[in-house]
Order: sequence, then structure tokens, then C-alpha cells
Amino acid sequence: MCGIVGFVGRRNAAPVLLEGLRRLEYRGYDSAGLALLDGGAFTLVRRKGRVAALEDAARGKAGKVGIGHTRWATHGAPSERNAHPHIYGKFAVVHNGIIENYRALKKECEESGETFASDTDSEVIAHLLAKYDEGDFLDSVRHAVAGLRGSYALAILCEGRPDELIAARKGSPLIVGERDGEWYVASDIPALAGKGMKLCPLSDGEIAVLKRGGAAFFDIEGKRIEKEWAEYDTETSAPQLCGYPHFMRKEIDEIPASIAQTAAEFLKKPANQSLCEVLCHTEYVQIVACGTAYHSGLAAKCAIEALARIPAEACIASEYRYRDPVVSKSTLVVAVSQSGETADTLAAARLAKERGAYLIAVANVPHSSLTALADHVIPTAAGTEIGVAATKSYNAQLIALYLLALSLRAAKSGARDVSSSGLASQCERDGEDARLLETLRALPALCGEAIAASRKTKEWARRFCSAKSIYFIGRGCDHAAAVEGSLKLKEISYLPSEGYPAGELKHGTLALIGRDTPVVAVMTDRALAEKTMNSVHEAISRGADAYLVTSLSEYAERKEFAASILVPACERLFSPAVSVIPLQLLAYETALACGNDPDKPRNLAKSVTVE
Ligand code: AGP
Repeated sequence: MCGIVGFVGRRNAAPVLLEGLRRLEYRGYDSAGLALLDGGAFTLVRRKGRVAALEDAARGKAGKVGIGHTRWATHGAPSERNAHPHIYGKFAVVHNGIIENYRALKKECEESGETFASDTDSEVIAHLLAKYDEGDFLDSVRHAVAGLRGSYALAILCEGRPDELIAARKGSPLIVGERDGEWYVASDIPALAGKGMKLCPLSDGEIAVLKRGGAAFFDIEGKRIEKEWAEYDTETSAPQLCGYPHFMRKEIDEIPASIAQTAAEFLKKPANQSLCEVLCHTEYVQIVACGTAYHSGLAAKCAIEALARIPAEACIASEYRYRDPVVSKSTLVVAVSQSGETADTLAAARLAKERGAYLIAVANVPHSSLTALADHVIPTAAGTEIGVAATKSYNAQLIALYLLALSLRAAKSGARDVSSSGLASQCERDGEDARLLETLRALPALCGEAIAASRKTKEWARRFCSAKSIYFIGRGCDHAAAVEGSLKLKEISYLPSEGYPAGELKHGTLALIGRDTPVVAVMTDRALAEKTMNSVHEAISRGADAYLVTSLSEYAERKEFAASILVPACERLFSPAVSVIPLQLLAYETALACGNDPDKPRNLAKSVTVE
């Protein structure tokens, strides 16, 4: 989604801003722009399309202070006039987030004779800055943001202040960086990659004033606040392709390492007494998340209910707060998010906390809004994920949630220390728990084997790319893998696709099944296999070609399937971590067969920071 980069330094700002914007390209955007200050008036350059086009247009433009932006259209079409920065009067502004009351604010401005140059909600911020301008830049910002409803991360320049940039945040991430006496601001850490960079994330309601001579932080009342800085070797936050054609393909190969690392970090954490108390008293688990993260919640629900015998529910975060959810002190709410910045997940997590739930965040980005909000964080250690289509982060989420399920199981059985390192020793005492933990520890190797077994997906993709629509079916835990396989496929191949519980097909969707609608069955649970086969036969009888992803060797050779992939067998509750891999690779190969860039799907953004 939208990206922000700002710079105050001794060098020309344009190359710094462009490099930062390039590092944010993976997030998805449709236009880009920058504004520079070089003593006099602003230099504004904006382009629809790629950062490369902006780079050509910005060549030779001077200014040691600047702000840059990649825009993912929400209010107003993708176009040059709607691209940020927006300038009004003495102020240039770039904005991430959504200003919910912009219509009323814009109307007020128009009634007093001001004209607007774009269709965006963001431009109103520049007008407010001008309205409150009495010569003190910080005061103008404080008064302007006080009138905004919604979410914002802002970087602002003011004409006549050629060595100053102000940044402000509420509900949208923003990080200040410093290296060698030069100052940076960015919406995401990868934009600030480089050795020796010191970083300081802003919290909601905070304002940073960056000048060539130093940085100062203020609250919304204008009171000075002290902030902590941490040094990051952010070189590692800017992943390279390392010979792979696409990040998505590379990230699938990184799945075994991601899950091994996630499990290792979970199990080495010192015991946490208050978490143990919470797990012991948990009577109901709600997992709130969106998209792929929600699908990890579907798999986790099966595992928690089966292993801990505690009722669990996977909740679509964007629906959660509108259904007046039932939450009590014995409800454990687990918010799952790769980015930790998804607006819907954050809103659901906030509501759950307000209602008294204990909040666990399962997040891949360590310093995110979600991790700041949570009572306890279970990190996924997948490393930065560039592909918009989540792969390794999904598998890492599964492992984190399975370990949580084992902790809840241990808590239910009366163990006192059920968190992290305590879980490992508890499992050593109990035969069945030990077996389950060993199964989890074996998953990285099984995932590696599944990647090797998925070569055939290239051949499947050649057939799938001309299909009318593609259906994925499965029962129990296999359903969780099926819906994720379907989401992956539609995200990057743009082919219509649905994932269904196999038994649901006959209740309506079967009407759509025919010759040009392949059906992919996921089948790893022997107890349910014949039931799933019934659905497969129903589809074949209507002319569909059926494809199979299975760990059951006796089904892999069955003649009714057009093709099948045999993945290694594992404990059925954990099987989605393995069986999803051929589906991720199928989506990747189908995107290529359709001529699409799998890393940059149209209309989608990596981190969805608007409701
Ligand atoms: C997954 O491929 C998608 N990009 C999307 O569904 C994503 O999982 C969803 O937007 C949630 O993102 P989060 O994990 O960063 O919260």
C-alpha cells in the first residue's frame, strides 16, 4: 500500500528518496511522486505508474530536503494529479492512511474560496496546514492534525524552511532514521536499509521535527518527549533475488528455514508466568486476521479444538467489530498478521482488548502497530516477505499457532509452565505431547520434500491458465489448505477460483462445474478420504478434470485423477503446512503461464493499512 520516504541531509535528496521508494515498490502502488526544497519554491515531480518513470523525470532536480511517496489509489483514480505530494500554499504533504472526515473539511475550505487540485482525501491536509499557519511550522502541524479523523502517517515540508521536515503519525506506521547526521523518515523499515542506521518508530499522536542539526519529538499538545533509538543492521531488511526470477519463488524455498526458525524462537523464549496464567484460564479462543493470515487461523482452529479441546473460532477481522463480538476475560484473542499493520486486524484487536480479552499477536514484523498493542507477541521468523502473495509467512504463522495449540493443551492438562521453553520440558514428560512436538520439529524437512515433489505444477499450470474457473476442495484441515490455495491462485493468475469444504460442492457450486473448470482436491486425512472422493466423483461426472494433492499414496495413482502430487505424510492436524506448498507453487506457475508478474499482482498491496 502507500509508501512514504523523507530526507533531511547534506546530499541531494532525490536519489535517497528514489532508492527508498524503490525499496517500497513490493508493497503495491500505482503512482509515485516527490517534492524537494532547495531554498526557494518546491520542485514537484509526480508520475502515474512506476518509480522508474519518476526517476527519469526527477533527474537533475536539486534540494537537500525532500519527501517522496508511492500511492495506492483509494480516493480518486490512479493519475498524476492524484499522486502525492500535494501542495497548497507553503506546504507540501505526503500521506498514508484515510481521512474519514475529508468531505466535510474540503467543503469548509471550498466555501472559503479555496480550490482543490486532486480528488484525494489527503490534499485537505495541505489546506488545513495553510489555514493554521501563523509562522510556527510545528504549531501548524499540531492544529491541522487535531482536526483529522481517521488514520495518517505524514511527512510535511514548508517553504521558507529549507532544512526542516515534520512527520506525524496516528494509526499508520512511520519510523524516523538517523545515520551520519542525516535524517530519514519512512513508512516501513525496508525503505531505510543500510548499515548503521538508527531507528525510532513513532507512536500514535507523536510528531517528529527533523532538522539538519537534529531531531526533536513532541506530543500532540506540543510537549517535548524523549524517544528511544535502536540500531538496526537494516542491510538484511532489503532482500535480494539471489538468482531467483521472482521473490515469490525464492520465498517458497525459504519455507523450511522460516518454520524452523519460528519454532526455535518460540521454544527458547523464557517462561512467562502471566501468559501461563492466561492460557490456564482460557475457555474460548478467537483468531482474528485477514486473507492468508485468516486462513492460517482456520487451520489453527482445527488444531486448538482437537489438541486442547477448547472452542476456537477463526474470525474475519474486517467483520469482527461490526458483529458486536462476545468477548470475556476468559477469551484469548489471537491477532495474526504478517505486516502487523493491517487496519482491519488492528481494529479487531483493539476492540477485543477493550472488551477485556488477553491479546496475543502473531506477527512477522517485530516493531509494528500490532506488536505494540498486544499483551504478548509470538514472532514468526520468516524474514522480510517481498512477494505480495504471502507464502513463507503463512507457513510460519501455522507453526506459531500449532505451538500455541500445544501450549493450550499443556495448560488444559494442568501443567504450570506451558509457555515457550516450559512447553518443551512439559512435552518431554508426556508421551503424546512429545510425539506432537517431534512432528512439528520434523515439518521443515517435510516442507522441503513437498517443494521437491511439486515440480509437476508447471504442467498443471499450462492447462489451468485457459480454465474458466478453478475450484479447490478439502475436508477438515484440508479445507484450510484448499482455501489458501485458491486465494493464492486468484491473487496472481487473475483466474476466478473458489475454495470449498468438499461436502459443500453439491449444495450449489456444483452447478458451475463442467469441462473447463478443473477441481483440485486436497486429501491428507485418511479418515475423510473416501468422503472427499465422493465430491471428486461428483465433479468428474459433470465433466471436470480432477487434480489431487495428497499424502496418501494409495490415492496418488488413482486413474480418475488427471494428475496428482504426493506430498510427505505428517500428523493430520499439521498437514496444511505441507499440503499448501504444491498449491503455492501451482499459483506461481499459473501466474507465469498467464504472463503475469507474480510479485506485483494488479490492484493488491502487501500491507493493507486502510479499512
Ligand atoms: C496474501 O497473499 C494476501 N496478500 C493478503 O490476503 C494478506 O494475507 C492480508 O492482507 C493480511 O495481511 P497481513 O498478514 O499483513 O495482516
